[in-house]
Amino acid sequence: MLCGLNIFQNVKINSTVQIYNKIAGKYARSFNGSPEERSIILEFIKDHTPFKGISIEEVFENLESLVEMGIDGVETSRGTLAFSMFDMCRGGVPSKEMSKIMPKPAQAMTNIALKLNYPEKKFAFTEAYNRLPGKKLKEVLNDCPLILVGGMRGFPLMDQIVTNGEADFISLCRPLIREPLILKKWSQGNTNEPACVNCNKCLAGLAHHMVLQCREKKKF
Ligand SMILES: Cc1cc2nc3c(=O)[nH]c(=O)nc-3n(C[C@H](O)[C@H](O)[C@H](O)COP(=O)(O)O)c2cc1C
Ligand code: SF4
Repeated sequence: MLCGLNIFQNVKINSTVQIYNKIAGKYARSFNGSPEERSIILEFIKDHTPFKGISIEEVFENLESLVEMGIDGVETSRGTLAFSMFDMCRGGVPSKEMSKIMPKPAQAMTNIALKLNYPEKKFAFTEAYNRLPGKKLKEVLNDCPLILVGGMRGFPLMDQIVTNGEADFISLCRPLIREPLILKKWSQGNTNEPACVNCNKCLAGLAHHMVLQCREKKKF
């Protein structure tokens, strides 16, 4: 079973542990854990994931318990789609595109409200933005693999992070939305930086119930 650890950066001591039900559902049968073990872990996560998050200390306590329960890996993340989506997806805040889900008369106000609530400066993109929390998690995880996600871009840095033992796996989201074949390119020796510019318009597309694809140059 895989487990995602979401850390809220904007609420000083808050963070939360979140299970990715979809991943768990997809892979649970191929792991050693019995269905009973799986439901115990899911219950644990549910009981320990208050909406407002928990303290960093509690994260580590929970993580120790989860490792003892036999989870197969932990993926770092940050925030949640519902609570702090741009903490999770650092970069642009497509407030104009998102405001268009509202009826026309409400769009301008929504745009302003989004700009105020999600100031771009606060969510500026930096490469490997979960690297430091990942290092801390690694201390608790022992042999349990850590999957690092969040602004993983340059191939040399990813390689270095795995070679250093800071993470066991690297996870990519937006680079793959933009270039689904990027891993193939890298495996063939072309290790160019991903073309994704972190504008988050693909995320705005989801708010419109659009198909998930790169929407950087698309009209909303
Ligand atoms: C369109 C989109 C949808 C996402 N949906 C989820 C989600 O449902 N749950 C979640 O934990 N993270 C979600 N994420 C966050 C990603 O899993 C990932 O943590 C984040 O994009 C940072 O990785 P990246 O820099 O490789 O894109 C989503 C990201 C994007 C762009
Ligand atoms: S819309 Fe395209 S460029 Fe913008 S963040 Fe999404 S994948 Fe990257």
